[in-house]
Amino acid sequence: MVDVNPDFLISVDNIRKALSPKTKVIIPVDIAGLPCDYDAIMALVQDDEVKRNFLPSNVLQEKMGRPLVLSDAAHSLGAWYKGKRTGAVADITVFSFHAVKNLTTAEGGAICLALPNTFDAQEIYKQLCTFSLHGQSKDALAKTQIGNWRYDVYECGYKCNMTDVAAAMGLVELARYDSMVLKRRKEIFDAYTQAFESDARFQLPEYETTDKTSSYHVYALRVNGVTEDQRDAIMQRIFEQEVSVNVHFIPLPMLTAYKKMGYDIADYPVTYDNYSREISLPVYFNLTDEQVQQVIEAVKNGCNG
Ligand SMILES: Cc1ncc(COP(=O)(O)O)c(C=O)c1O
Repeated sequence: MVDVNPDFLISVDNIRKALSPKTKVIIPVDIAGLPCDYDAIMALVQDDEVKRNFLPSNVLQEKMGRPLVLSDAAHSLGAWYKGKRTGAVADITVFSFHAVKNLTTAEGGAICLALPNTFDAQEIYKQLCTFSLHGQSKDALAKTQIGNWRYDVYECGYKCNMTDVAAAMGLVELARYDSMVLKRRKEIFDAYTQAFESDARFQLPEYETTDKTSSYHVYALRVNGVTEDQRDAIMQRIFEQEVSVNVHFIPLPMLTAYKKMGYDIADYPVTYDNYSREISLPVYFNLTDEQVQQVIEAVKNGCNG
């Protein structure tokens, strides 16, 4: 793990410092919905020296000839990076359709492949479908076709295919995603920004820059000059006004499993600073303008102590 920048996104300078010949994959996280600095990350993995030093340990890595860039785009479906949508920027991009995400199928997600031309994306797609369905050569529907009942099992796969019911939900959500969902989320983001931008107590999140447009997933407000405990107290006062707020996220080095592995938050000062002052405000399609105003008042009151 490497430290991030004040915009919450992975620092490319820190990736460069952490890269070793053993590095197989870089996983940038488009936290809150803002894409990471993919041009710089892709340029880094394509650097001649990085490629020369790369130590593959299987056939696919050998074919790749450099570290893979695997984007965690759980938050950034529909976001833009230099005129391209997330999904078309990194080698592989993974989206989440979990219940709290902008687009949900209750549980599930999607994998987008934008690998170098030496890879056969169609073939990998087929392998992933097989792998996610017990390693079976065909699904139940395909078996109902005339003369098509025979099947094989190629490997001990997983059972993690998307169900048809979940996919049906996703198709409906997808059809209205740009025109309704993103539009409303942007309105809510803009309302928060308008309310807090002239108030020096707050640091506002970046969500529209020259190169990037967010998917407006998390409105990550930061309070200036507070400690973690003071932030927690502010959150408590916001909760007491019947507004539910959250923190995205508790940094991994502060969680037991990672502490046990030896990670220490002291090594990630920017991450800690971002986290300790952060409060995520409610953003969802059905949030009314009146409720947005209620949130704004609750946050301002909460900061008054
Ligand atoms: C940044 C990030 N990555 C990955 C995930 C995992 O997504 P899923 O629960 O669909 O596996 C989440 C879900 O909360 C997330 O917020």
